[in-house]
Amino acid sequence: VATMGALHEGPLSLGAAARAATDVVVLSIFVNPLQFGPTEDFRLYPRDEKRDLRLAAEAGVDIVFLPFPEEMEPEGRSTTVSAGPLAEVVEGASRPGHFDGVATVVARLLNLVMPDKAYFGQKDAQQVAGLRRMIRALAVPVELVACPTVREDSGLALSSRNAYLSPEDRDRATLLYRALDAGRTAIEGGGGPAEAEKAMQDVFGTDPQVAVDYARAVDPDTFEEPRPDAPVLLVVAARVGRARLVDNLLVTRR
Ligand code: PAF
Repeated sequence: VATMGALHEGPLSLGAAARAATDVVVLSIFVNPLQFGPTEDFRLYPRDEKRDLRLAAEAGVDIVFLPFPEEMEPEGRSTTVSAGPLAEVVEGASRPGHFDGVATVVARLLNLVMPDKAYFGQKDAQQVAGLRRMIRALAVPVELVACPTVREDSGLALSSRNAYLSPEDRDRATLLYRALDAGRTAIEGGGGPAEAEKAMQDVFGTDPQVAVDYARAVDPDTFEEPRPDAPVLLVVAARVGRARLVDNLLVTRR
């Protein structure tokens, strides 16, 4: 279970899934500088090692791997793994270099730990799609297991970045899920990707304090245009207060 720490029910649910299916659970905590852009929150990213270690122990994790930065980049920035075309679209277009940074660090973590199974949260759907491809392309001997997004009752997806939200912003942030829900209703009512995107934009339009980055209906594997009659992945990103939040919902067409 690869994490950046600041553990909450999201990554802990990955730990629990691993605990139920495997004999030894390794959880890594590494705030990976390669996946943050120059204006992003690398320095601010919440870090609380003592709390993380306690929560990991309570979740039945056997080994917590806390690599030093030098252990993750012993050769400096000499070799990077490209996440391919997926790294350029949707979330990748907003965060240049992000998915290559993720692929590079995850490839190294998998080679160091050599797990049979690796658990990732569906909340970062594009990360899951990119890592599936990387694992296939490099023939990494691991099975990727994607686990469902953990949500509050309000629909808000759990995220370490929710820690940046004031109580008012927390209410506002439920708009991401409400937008996804409107997109789902549009698709389930027989609409196509364009109708779903409009329905999501309309919901975002109700609160000018939520700065939407994108609200798209895409193919769940390529993040390009959805194929006719195939499932559609609704993906949203928006800035709420100090936090940039992402969420997604997979919708099957009737
Ligand atoms: O999802 C995350 O927390 C990170 O992107 C990961 C997979 C730990 C890689 O740094």
